[in-house]
Amino acid sequence: MLLSTQNFQQDSQLKTAVLQLPGEEIKLPIVSGTEGEQAIDITSLRDETGYITLDPGYSNTGACESKITFIDGKNGVLRYRGYPIEELAEHSTFVETAWLLIYGELPTEAQRARFRELLTEQELLHEGMRHHFEGFPPHGHPMAMLSAMINACACYHPELLDTDLDPDRFLTAVAILMSKVRTIAAFSYKMSLGHRVEYPDPALSYCRNFLHMMFSKPHSRYEPTLQVVKALSRFLILHADHEQNCSTSTVRMVGSSGANVFASVASGVCALWGPSHGGANMAVIEMLEKIHKGGENPKSIVEKVKAKKFRLMGFGHRVYKNFDPRAKILEKTAAGLLSTLGVADPLLDIAAELASIALTDEYFLERKLYPNVDFYSGIILRAIGIPVNMFTVMFSIGRIPGWIAHWYELYHDPDRRISRPRQVYTGPTRRKYVPVENRS
Ligand code: CMC
Repeated sequence: MLLSTQNFQQDSQLKTAVLQLPGEEIKLPIVSGTEGEQAIDITSLRDETGYITLDPGYSNTGACESKITFIDGKNGVLRYRGYPIEELAEHSTFVETAWLLIYGELPTEAQRARFRELLTEQELLHEGMRHHFEGFPPHGHPMAMLSAMINACACYHPELLDTDLDPDRFLTAVAILMSKVRTIAAFSYKMSLGHRVEYPDPALSYCRNFLHMMFSKPHSRYEPTLQVVKALSRFLILHADHEQNCSTSTVRMVGSSGANVFASVASGVCALWGPSHGGANMAVIEMLEKIHKGGENPKSIVEKVKAKKFRLMGFGHRVYKNFDPRAKILEKTAAGLLSTLGVADPLLDIAAELASIALTDEYFLERKLYPNVDFYSGIILRAIGIPVNMFTVMFSIGRIPGWIAHWYELYHDPDRRISRPRQVYTGPTRRKYVPVENRS
């Protein structure tokens, strides 16, 4: 089988790829994205030839066309709706960035004010929902609670489950998800401590309100510094979307069946949980803590990695093969936050040592392995006071707008079809049933 590309109709810039198969040849159109990314459109391949493509892990497969996020992994570029991540991290807020991702434009003053109002309206949990927490074991994993509670939102909002969601009802669903998720996260933390929950305060901004629910106590109100609020907002912005990653693809896959936005987003939380994805931020801190306590040292870790006995958590990325722009911003943010808080976290020094050994080692250079977003994010979360088992929950709060944006894009796609990949079957071929008494 041979695949070659050729200019098909030079004047209209249309190109095709020619696929040579045993005894036949097929021309497949090449589609281009707005940033010059090229893809071979194989939608007619199976019908015309009987062949399918095989791409475990989907490294070479575009599952959709999308207008939301652009990544150039070779050059470390990340843009939301065309805006560079560096500019958004510096100047925007999480709420504004969420709007941008979902609706495609930065909000006007009026839209931003309305969105803030709706987020405030939706910040409380139905008492019935609050009682769900009592059914969870106090030390149950907060990611399990988060996905269960997001799914439970569907029970409390049956009016938002229709397949013809108008713009107003969709906006309500957005506000429910974005607002309640931080209440759910903070309540689960308080429950794990056996403390009374702190109700949200409608006077506070998105990040301040979350920090208040997490750290205020009945007789002492938590007042974060501006630097803490900014660091949290930046953390959330940097996690808000990352095109077709594992959890977002899961959300799109679930949404493709027509499942409602709550069910689809809850599935994203489950996919994010794994250590190869969002769970890596917990694994990084656990690794750094182990080194700090003397169980390991950076050099021995690197040796273990090279001997294939260990994966360096917070390193490597499927798409970034030069640097992860989010990690660069977070590295600076972590150092700045620690210095304004006057905290010297030995884990940041260990992370820097580990990174400098890895970044000069042949093993890592050859494989293009660089620190990713999870390498420094835990240092920031630790400095803010977030417990390690909630790190992936924090990633989820950040990723909610991205999941919603992708669900909504798919919802409006006139060509939407249920996601249903094929497989190459490699199991036994036809066998004859044997009654139990005759089996050896
Ligand atoms: N430590 C050591 N070796 C690694 C690492 C790592 N973190 N990542 C990849 N490699 C090696 C891997 O062993 C393989 O080597 P070889 O060619 O000798 O077999 C080569 O690099 C290619 O690895 P791969 O597994 O084919 O790469 P992938 O694109 O399938 O995996 C990844 C990407 C992010 C899952 C992987 O790099 C990894 O497991 N990293 C650690 C977990 C992590 O930090 N995840 C967070 C990702 S960023 C945030 C997010 O998306 O959630």
